[in-house]
Amino acid sequence: MTTETPIPDTAPAAPGEVVLDARGVTMRFGGLTAVRNVDFTVRSGEIVGLIGPNGAGKTTFFNCLTGLYIPTEGEVRYKGQVLPPKSFKVTAAGIARTFQNIRLFANMTVLENVLVGRHTRTKEGLWSALLRGPGFHRAEAASRARAMELLEFVGLEKKAEHLARNLPYGEQRKLEIARALASEPGLLLLDEPTAGMNPQETRTTEELVFAIRDKGIAVLVIEHDMRFIFNLCDRVAVLVQGEKLVEGDSATVQGDERVIAAYLGEPFENAPGDEEVAEVEAAEAAAEPEADNTSDAVPGKENDR
Ligand SMILES: Nc1ncnc2c1ncn2[C@@H]1O[C@H](COP(=O)(O)OP(=O)(O)OP(=O)(O)O)[C@@H](O)[C@H]1O
Ligand SMILES: [Mg+2]
Repeated sequence: MTTETPIPDTAPAAPGEVVLDARGVTMRFGGLTAVRNVDFTVRSGEIVGLIGPNGAGKTTFFNCLTGLYIPTEGEVRYKGQVLPPKSFKVTAAGIARTFQNIRLFANMTVLENVLVGRHTRTKEGLWSALLRGPGFHRAEAASRARAMELLEFVGLEKKAEHLARNLPYGEQRKLEIARALASEPGLLLLDEPTAGMNPQETRTTEELVFAIRDKGIAVLVIEHDMRFIFNLCDRVAVLVQGEKLVEGDSATVQGDERVIAAYLGEPFENAPGDEEVAEVEAAEAAAEPEADNTSDAVPGKENDR
């Protein structure tokens, strides 16, 4: 029986549009290839995780996405447009970020820090600011109102007049998020947002990231806290020695043997029994003592300049 069935309107809900599309991104520093041929997409409505050992190239990749570095090879598009190779232009295009090593204006107030984050969204020019006419005052009032709204959103409204340097570490990280949001991004990149936070702060940050996504902002997050990552992310990509090793949902990534070997080191649950340990030790003893390739960790370094 042949029936002329009209194409049913039951296609799965269209995934969000691709907001970030990185193709073949490679970043070399002299002889070192920190990021190698990485393809990466983020769609609207997604929270995507980027994990990998120290020195894997995660921050470098962020720097390639945000104009801090110009990739040696490859192309990065945001909503279809190739990104300009300048940080402030990338921010203006709609990508905001926080930094692994917090970058706040320590001697400015919390509110002022957020206002700085709004500069790409305020139209008032130099003369208007100097002459301080009615246009300037209106724009300034609107900016302050928006900045206060964002401080409330991250839970810092009571600290608006405090100096940034007097905030505890966890709150400084939240202030960085508020400042990034002040540029009204469509995509937010978070580089280790819970580093140095206690478990309670980490949990509120998790909720904050969900709330950000619910506002229609896609999120790409680097973290070493696996519980945080796997609770939060729709999709996780693993970078090892600059290459994307695996990408998938939490279960896929957690169960991937290569990820366990390369990064996680051991299974989350069911630590190996004595038998398996003995087996591994025997295999290691039998293996030739080849070059040690486990020393990629570069603890405590700050590379996102
Ligand atoms: N500006 C730079 N010049 C030279 N080498 C760099 C530069 N930035 C990063 N690197 C090197 O690139 C590699 C990747 O570093 P990157 O900071 O991106 O790693 P990461 O995955 O963010 O690590 P971590 O988890 O420790 O933050 C490292 O070997 C690092 O030393
Ligand atoms: Mg890093």
